[in-house]
Amino acid sequence: MHIQDNTKTSENLHAAFAGESMANRKYLYFAKVARKLGNEEVAKLFEETAHQETGHAFSHLELMYPPSELTVEKILELAVEGELYESNQMYPEFERIAYEEGRMDAVAEFQDQAAESKEHAAIFEQAAKRFHALTMVEKYHAGKYQKALDNVRESEKVVVSELKEIA
Ligand SMILES: [Fe+2]
Ligand SMILES: [Fe+2]
Repeated sequence: MHIQDNTKTSENLHAAFAGESMANRKYLYFAKVARKLGNEEVAKLFEETAHQETGHAFSHLELMYPPSELTVEKILELAVEGELYESNQMYPEFERIAYEEGRMDAVAEFQDQAAESKEHAAIFEQAAKRFHALTMVEKYHAGKYQKALDNVRESEKVVVSELKEIA
């Protein structure tokens, strides 16, 4: 995966992706605020621009995680990894600092989101297990089908040779 190649460009792609992603969510949030303030025109402008920022973020993602290198297993694995990083490392550290700084609003938020990240990790893990089980079942059926097919071909050969003997 290109994101793990430790080049400055990979690092920059990551930063650019983060920036475009943030712009997307920020503009959607600003659109909500503008609408609440009664300015529909500005709300729509933010929404349209937010949509373009999503496109920009996706372009960076395609270079970071080339589609040709991805499988269902891989994307689920990457998702679990990200969610576990949030719940086990990032949020506990942020919570500790927020506590030290007396930002109890942020402490509560970080705790909530750490719990949600943990849930997301579990959901993705379950999906990965289901996918794995399904793949095994498919392989099993494919194997059985191949065996049945081989048997049919084998008996056809026997019939043909028997017919030849009769003739
Ligand atoms: Fe952009
Ligand atoms: Fe999450």
